[in-house]
Amino acid sequence: MTALLSLAGVTAYYGAIQALKGVDVEVNEGEIVTLIGANGAGKSTLMMTICGSPRARDGRITYDGQDITQLPTHLIMRRDIAQSPEGRRIFPRMSVYENLLMGAHGRPAAEASETMEQVFGLFPRLRERRLQRGGTLSGGEQQMLAIGRALMSRPRLLLLDEPSLGLAPLVVRQIFGAIRELNRTTGLTVLLVEQNAFQALRLAHRGYVLVNGAITMAGTGADLLARPEIRAAYLEGGH
Ligand SMILES: Nc1ncnc2c1ncn2[C@@H]1O[C@H](COP(=O)(O)OP(=O)(O)O)[C@@H](O)[C@H]1O
Ligand SMILES: [Mg+2]
Repeated sequence: MTALLSLAGVTAYYGAIQALKGVDVEVNEGEIVTLIGANGAGKSTLMMTICGSPRARDGRITYDGQDITQLPTHLIMRRDIAQSPEGRRIFPRMSVYENLLMGAHGRPAAEASETMEQVFGLFPRLRERRLQRGGTLSGGEQQMLAIGRALMSRPRLLLLDEPSLGLAPLVVRQIFGAIRELNRTTGLTVLLVEQNAFQALRLAHRGYVLVNGAITMAGTGADLLARPEIRAAYLEGGH
């Protein structure tokens, strides 16, 4: 089986600083794959490199059989890939409804309202608050909105950067439960970047550990959760 998304030997730099040191990651169709690692490990950089900014200096990124390594960002995002970046960048002065519509730009209106119904089904809270301004939502609701907006483009691959950041455990469980449900019912492929290793590994089919810009471990979620070195570094020692 060829992977839907594959990174092979990918490096990325900020000026002279090397943030990714030859990363190999594969995401198969229908999988939830998580990339865990401490703050500063390069998780966001990896996600942004997939989207073309910063650009991979070495190595190759392929998506759906096509080499996208040198493709401009807007063309990468047009290939059924949606991203919910770190820090839930919603439009604070726009309503929930308007925020969601922004994610559907270019899609026919009928399709957008159908997709919005699916998003509301997944996050009923957003339906209740559809006329409320994004900036007045709670942190958890803003995260739901950020994910919902990404889903509005009907992606085949969803990239999520730290959706659990700063949220209470109960809210994290709600959001991860929704991601699981979406994956189970629609087969959506998800690459989830997380510092919250415990919840992420419980959710994901497979995981990778990123340390200082390099992958140090890979395995199924259950396998990684059981490893003593993971427990010591990411589970019992904090987050
Ligand atoms: N825009 C930037 N300019 C320079 N260095 C950066 C920039 N963004 C991130 N870095 C550095 O790259 C490394 C990886 O950062 P990042 O990918 O944000 O890590 P993570 O998401 O795992 O916390 C860190 O050392 C960080 O300081
Ligand atoms: Mg980050």
